[in-house]
Amino acid sequence: MIPSRVGVIGGGRMGAGIAHAFVCAGAQVVVVERDAAAQDAAAARVREMVERSAARGTLDRDPGEVAASVTVAVDAAALAGCSLVVEAVPEDRALKADAFARAEAVIDPDAVLASNTSSISIDALAGSVRHPERFCGMHFFNPVPSSKLVEVVTGAATDPAVVDRVRAVVEDLGKTAVVVRDAPGFASSRLGVALGLEAIRMVEEGVAGPADIDAAMELGYGHPMGPLRTTDIVGLDVRLGIAEELHARLGERFAPPELLRRMVADGHLGRKSGRGFYEWSQR
Ligand SMILES: NC(=O)c1ccc[n+]([C@@H]2O[C@H](COP(=O)([O-])OP(=O)(O)OC[C@H]3O[C@@H](n4cnc5c(N)ncnc54)[C@H](O)[C@@H]3O)[C@@H](O)[C@H]2O)c1
Repeated sequence: MIPSRVGVIGGGRMGAGIAHAFVCAGAQVVVVERDAAAQDAAAARVREMVERSAARGTLDRDPGEVAASVTVAVDAAALAGCSLVVEAVPEDRALKADAFARAEAVIDPDAVLASNTSSISIDALAGSVRHPERFCGMHFFNPVPSSKLVEVVTGAATDPAVVDRVRAVVEDLGKTAVVVRDAPGFASSRLGVALGLEAIRMVEEGVAGPADIDAAMELGYGHPMGPLRTTDIVGLDVRLGIAEELHARLGERFAPPELLRRMVADGHLGRKSGRGFYEWSQR
């Protein structure tokens, strides 16, 4: 079920990971970036991921040949002939609407268009596509190469046949699809952020330190990683953005704690800035 030609709009952290997943599964992949500088950076990101897979022994083909199956373009016309396009531009409705319009101008009428949004409503995004019946969420997780989960988010207008197609594609990527109706935070972000915000409130109230709170969930409940280390890895700014969206749509229980706002304002964004609830010497 892996389409022979797949498009990815936005070749950042997630888009490069999504491109890597499809190219390793045998597709020709076209990544569309915003300008020439971003084009080079995206190509390097995908190449590095392919080389890392080869070094880890998880790629059974020649890495050079695999990397050569990915092209990075600036013109969305390169998406012509793709039967699946996954949008992974930054979390901004206007940017995403523009990306959909450029893709829909060139893709086939039965091609599936999916968004990797982590917090924007699929129904809201569907308002800016010409064919909402072939539109859904495909929420990959970070880092894509090692994550086994993709949330397939169905909008009110998504054709059930499209959901079946996307679910089959996810399984053929070697990942597991969970199908979720469009709702704030889908399943994963809503539960993950709820736990993370409560853990931050506990630090704020002096209940325990980050390492002890994380250990309680890791050892007590068998979570592979505690909520505060997870927040550091995802990025405090990313988590704050999702919390704000959930607060607006689901109410006070998702109100971002003052400590989270303060840490983001001070530039303590987690692993990527070198400091969050933990110190990260390697970025
Ligand atoms: N980072 C995560 O942990 C994570 C997890 C799941 C989902 N997401 C979602 O995935 C999406 C992308 O996130 P990311 O972390 O990869 O962001 P990122 O900033 O790393 O990458 C975004 C990429 O989009 C490119 N871009 C910007 N405008 C563009 C345009 N008009 N056309 C084409 N490309 C454009 C940028 O150059 C950049 O390479 C967001 O919607 C985010 O919410 C992120």
